[in-house]
Amino acid sequence: MSKNLLITGASSGIGKAVALEFAKRDGSKNHLILVARNREKLEGVAEEARSFGAEVSVLTADFGQKESIAKLFIDLEKSFPILDLVFNNAGLGFVKEAHLLTDDEVEQIIDVNVKGMILVGKKAANIMIKQGYGHIIFTSSLAGYVLLPKWSVYCASKWGITAFANILRQETSKFGVKITTVHPGPVKTEFFDSNKADVDLSGSEKSMPAIPVEDVSGAIYEIAYTDKERIFCPPSLGVSAEAFRLFPKFMKKVFAKLVK
Ligand SMILES: NC(=O)c1ccc[n+]([C@@H]2O[C@H](COP(=O)([O-])OP(=O)(O)OC[C@H]3O[C@@H](n4cnc5c(N)ncnc54)[C@H](OP(=O)(O)O)[C@@H]3O)[C@@H](O)[C@H]2O)c1
Repeated sequence: MSKNLLITGASSGIGKAVALEFAKRDGSKNHLILVARNREKLEGVAEEARSFGAEVSVLTADFGQKESIAKLFIDLEKSFPILDLVFNNAGLGFVKEAHLLTDDEVEQIIDVNVKGMILVGKKAANIMIKQGYGHIIFTSSLAGYVLLPKWSVYCASKWGITAFANILRQETSKFGVKITTVHPGPVKTEFFDSNKADVDLSGSEKSMPAIPVEDVSGAIYEIAYTDKERIFCPPSLGVSAEAFRLFPKFMKKVFAKLVK
């Protein structure tokens, strides 16, 4: 029987790449359930994934709205009572100094990256605890480990979701449910569309180079169903994160130089 994989934020970027990674590598072994707001884009991803033999379903939800998340899980219960893997990934960011962010921008980041991800994680965990197995992978960020000027609310959201996921891991391991956090640095996706962020990803001395999205989706495929607690993409960022923990004063200056 095929495995049910729920992927949020599957209409673009990392979520889309993860859907296509599982489709390409596993074909009909997976039933991919793709979720985001934009149905047209989701249908495009679904068509591409089906060309590799995967079974695919498309559902829409707004992860900034708790009613929409509740409805999604009612629909899932009817059509997909088993969830083998959940990639809890939908998110966004606005990159400006905190005093320049509008109230609406702050609300969107917290609603989707924190509240939405927590509600999806909690509901998925309930289903998996009843099953006695499952794996939830949360997309956090390097920003869930370090402090970056101009990313204050985004960092707050990713530190928050990292804390939640790690405690959920402690609570659910006894039920056979695995939890992993993924911490990418900059990745080439629609995340950096000019309306949201003005960031230099050229890889120049004064910037953080962005990695191809396939590097992240490949790493996620490799750790699916394993008990890995966290991964950094690229893995070398794990050293930077640890250096930040040990030498916060020094590393704050290093990271501040990389953010224009
Ligand atoms: N790109 C990076 O450098 C980077 C680095 C570290 C972590 N991340 C994290 O990776 C995750 C994916 O980002 P990405 O880089 O792939 O960006 P992206 O290309 O902009 O994709 C974001 C995805 O999230 C969905 N989404 C956003 N708001 C939503 C909402 N209210 N309801 C439902 N879906 C929503 C979008 O779909 P719709 O617009 O169709 O709803 C889209 O599918 C995010 O959590 C982000 O914080 C990104």
